[in-house]
Amino acid sequence: MANVLTIAMPKGRIFEEAADMLRKAGYQLPPEFDESRKLILDVPKENIRFILAKPMDVVTYVEHGVADVGIAGKDVMLEEDGDVYEVLDLKISECYLAVAGLPDGKISDVAPKIATKYPKVASSYFREQGEQVEIIKLNGSIELAPLIGLADRIVDIVSTGQTLKENGLVELERICHITSRLIVNPVSYRMKDEPIDKLVERLSKVIGGL
Ligand code: PRP
Repeated sequence: MANVLTIAMPKGRIFEEAADMLRKAGYQLPPEFDESRKLILDVPKENIRFILAKPMDVVTYVEHGVADVGIAGKDVMLEEDGDVYEVLDLKISECYLAVAGLPDGKISDVAPKIATKYPKVASSYFREQGEQVEIIKLNGSIELAPLIGLADRIVDIVSTGQTLKENGLVELERICHITSRLIVNPVSYRMKDEPIDKLVERLSKVIGGL
């Protein structure tokens, strides 16, 4: 496929909404797109190649130019801080970053421990609050940390609030609202402006109709 547009798609919770949005934008994605375990999927009809990536890695793929375009949560963008253009707020996968903990949790006076998948975001948040904390980086199931005594509080994504509730945790502070964004590699934006502009235009129409 000549001059193919490579799009990095995040697997997991954003995937379904993002795929749905691309279909609404008029892209003909094959049914196996949603079920396949393949990590690279070519859609020759659209001259598009999809890379199925871990959400945390989408910014890295786009920054390094192995993907021209990507769909990434604002949470990942804040944490990864890559050299990419954010061209569109897709307004999907809405959630927020929050500080949470046990309702009666005793917080140590000196540098409380904060477990999170987002060490950069958490450090800068507490620095802005003038609070000295110790950050403990975990890769998932963050809610476990206060339950087993690893951390005093957590910084994590809250979507429905169910995970907090089912684990007896409460939200303490909201950090910021999160949605998914369309990001573009700066060189690709110059070299493949036509398909990228078309993608942005088609997706913008879908967003306008949301
Ligand atoms: C995310 C997040 C919370 C949960 C919040 O985890 O880290 O644990 O979803 O969603 P809720 O408010 O709707 O319950 P994810 O499912 O992505 O998996 P992880 O724990 O492995 O990060």
